[in-house]
Amino acid sequence: MLTIEGLNQYYGESHTLWDLELEVPEGAVISLMGRNGVGKTTLLKCLMGLLPIRSGKIAFAGVELHRLPAERRAPLGIGYVPQGRQIFPLLTVEENLKIGLAANPRRLRRVPELIFEMFPVLGTMLKRRGGDLSGGQQQQLAIGRALVLEPRLLILDEPTEGIQPNVVREIGRVIRRLNQEQLDQVREQAAIVREIGMAVQRLHREQGMTVLLVEQKLPFARWVAQRFCIVDKGRAVATGAIADLNDDLVRQYLTV
Ligand SMILES: Nc1ncnc2c1ncn2[C@@H]1O[C@H](COP(=O)(O)OP(=O)(O)OP(=O)(O)O)[C@@H](O)[C@H]1O
Ligand SMILES: [Mg+2]
Repeated sequence: MLTIEGLNQYYGESHTLWDLELEVPEGAVISLMGRNGVGKTTLLKCLMGLLPIRSGKIAFAGVELHRLPAERRAPLGIGYVPQGRQIFPLLTVEENLKIGLAANPRRLRRVPELIFEMFPVLGTMLKRRGGDLSGGQQQQLAIGRALVLEPRLLILDEPTEGIQPNVVREIGRVIRRLNQEQLDQVREQAAIVREIGMAVQRLHREQGMTVLLVEQKLPFARWVAQRFCIVDKGRAVATGAIADLNDDLVRQYLTV
C-alpha cells in the first residue's frame, strides 16, 4: 500500500535520511522503531509532504505521493497524528474534530460515531477547549481528528509518548511512593494507553485499516503491530515480523 524507495532527505547540509526503504503492506500494522533522533519523525513528515526530499520515491495506493503537494496527500486517505499531539488548544474538541472533515474524501458532514465509540471521553467534552484536556485526552483527540478523514492508512507518531504504558504492572510497586492523587493519574494514564491500543487493533481488525506507527515502547509495539522496521542513523536497518524482533536487535538498535 505504501512503498518508499531510496529516500534521501537533508536539513540544509545535514544528511538525515539515507537511501531509506520501507514497505507497508495493505492491512498491516507496522511499527517504526529506533532511538531518539534517528529520523522517524522526519520520515513521516516526508510522507506527508511537510518536508522536501532530495531524492527517492514514495508510492501510496498506486499514486506517486512525492509528486503531490502536502494538501493533496491527506485526502487520498492518509490520516496523520503528529508527535506531540498538535491539536488546536483554543478550539473546542468538536471544532478540532470538524477540522478533519475538510479533508474527508467522501465530503462527510458529521464526525463519525465510531470515533466517540472508541474514545467516549471526546463525546463528553465536545465543548471543552482542546488545550484544557489532559495529555492523554489530547492524544485521543488527535487520533480522533485523524480518523474523521476515514483514512485507509493511519500514521501515528509516538502515540503513547508521555503516557506510561507499563503502569498497570507498576502500580503495585509504586503504590507506596505515590500519594492518592498521583495514583489516580497513573490509573487514568494506564486506561488511556489501553484504549489507544484497543482502538488501533479494532481499526485494523474491523476496518482493515493499515497503520504505520512510530513506537519506542516495546510492549506496546508487540501488542498492536505485526511488523516492525528499525531505523538507525537515517537508514532502515532491519525489518520483519514483530515476532522476529529479537533481543539482539533490541540491544543493538533500541536500548540506550
Ligand atoms: N527542523 C530541523 N532542522 C535541522 N535538523 C533537524 C530538524 N528536525 C530534526 N532535525 C534533526 O534530524 C534528526 C532526526 O530527527 P527526528 O525528529 O526525525 O528524529 P526521531 O527519530 O523522530 O526522534 P525522537 O524519537 O526523539 O522523536 C535529529 O538529529 C534532529 O536533531
Ligand atoms: Mg520523533
